[in-house]
Amino acid sequence: MENAHNWIVLKFGETSEKSLQDWCALSKRIKHLLSRIGSMLKGNWRTLARQQANASDAGDRITLDQNDASSGPLDPRPLWWRRRRDDLLALCPPDRPLYVYDLETVSARATTIANLPHLDRGWYAMKANGHPDVLRTAYAAGLGLECVSIAEVHAAREAIPDLDMDRILFTPNFTARAEYAEALALGVHLTLDGLYPLQAWPELFDEHDIILRVNPQTPEGHHRHVQTAGPDCKFGLHAGDLVEAQSLAGAAHCRIVGLHVHAGSGINDPQHWGRVGRFLAEIARQMPDIRILDLGGGLGVDNATGPQGINARALDAELATLKSAYPDYALWMEPGRFIVAEAGVLLARVTQLKRTPDAWFIGINAGMNSLIRPALYGAHHDIVNLTRLHDTPDHIAEIVGPICETADRFGAQRPMPPTREGDVILVDNGGAYGRVMGSHYNMRPPAEESVI
Ligand SMILES: Cc1ncc(COP(=O)(O)O)c(C=O)c1O
Repeated sequence: MENAHNWIVLKFGETSEKSLQDWCALSKRIKHLLSRIGSMLKGNWRTLARQQANASDAGDRITLDQNDASSGPLDPRPLWWRRRRDDLLALCPPDRPLYVYDLETVSARATTIANLPHLDRGWYAMKANGHPDVLRTAYAAGLGLECVSIAEVHAAREAIPDLDMDRILFTPNFTARAEYAEALALGVHLTLDGLYPLQAWPELFDEHDIILRVNPQTPEGHHRHVQTAGPDCKFGLHAGDLVEAQSLAGAAHCRIVGLHVHAGSGINDPQHWGRVGRFLAEIARQMPDIRILDLGGGLGVDNATGPQGINARALDAELATLKSAYPDYALWMEPGRFIVAEAGVLLARVTQLKRTPDAWFIGINAGMNSLIRPALYGAHHDIVNLTRLHDTPDHIAEIVGPICETADRFGAQRPMPPTREGDVILVDNGGAYGRVMGSHYNMRPPAEESVI
């Protein structure tokens, strides 16, 4: 093993900018070799081997940096679930998976957005997680609730009996007339993202204020399925539709008071919202009634490994620049995942282990019917064996579920400690787009939910 270490050092030492991913991509067998020697590597090399294993299914490129020796993916960070490990182990049922949400983390993230000095209103996009306690926590922290269906509006009202309708923003897409009619009768804010409602049902909007969603044509986000802008995207009005939208609004006796963009999810560059703000402000110059620019959501979140998420201070600096350039507009944002992703974990029990010539598999009792993000978006979620959190990884494994689909895999090439049937596996950043996207596929119920 000492030789293997020297060999890898020799190889990487030849080109200091060499990407470990490129190197591993040469052959699955090399990754397999890493699984055997990973724990024998030293310092930086060991860290990089683990980073590579974790980053591989997210498509992230980990570039070799000899000075970056100190932090590795498995280095303890102040994550709530490390502190609450004993509680989580006690909570995990023996025979079914469970989502657990930490309301303190929800509150902290919601407060960060609600208190951004240069943001006028923050909204929680409740599609990310509609658990009633999560809704109450986000609302109590000062956020309004952004809803994309009338059922979400009903769920919000049920969770928060004295909910102020001024704190609901309804942003449906291709929904039926009846949903608009009901929402407007309730007195919520409404975003339209096409001309059709104004053309076909002008009477609905009589004397109402509306916001228009605009397609900025530049898709953003961590995967094409979460990109919500671009020439062939179903969301938003194209710039060429805006003149017609104004005349339709005039004929319907409604006022266009705001403009909105949501270009995608998992955006890690704070300058994105500055660009969106400038784009909308330029359009707003031609529209005298505009007083709101809604910059959307899509804020990336931290992974223990891989790219870091949005830094609130850097985001606020973008908003401050917008505010000073365009002081007449109220700035709104509507993040979902940022508020809840880190607050949730998915807990599951190990069901079976398998070793093949090329891979190790760890089977768990949660499947893609509980968390579909890895299958749908190739999303990266950190995964640990919570039962053996402090044990040294000795192999690299595929973490898979019981659903009859090859895509039923939570993580590829993950360093894991010796693992046994019944161990509790924790999938991190599971608070957003987890249970809400669950299904009964294979007639398996999705994970239930609990808060701590
Ligand atoms: C209109 C709109 N706003 C906000 C969001 C929230 O996005 P995220 O959870 O990435 O912040 C979405 C997500 O799809 C959306 O469609």
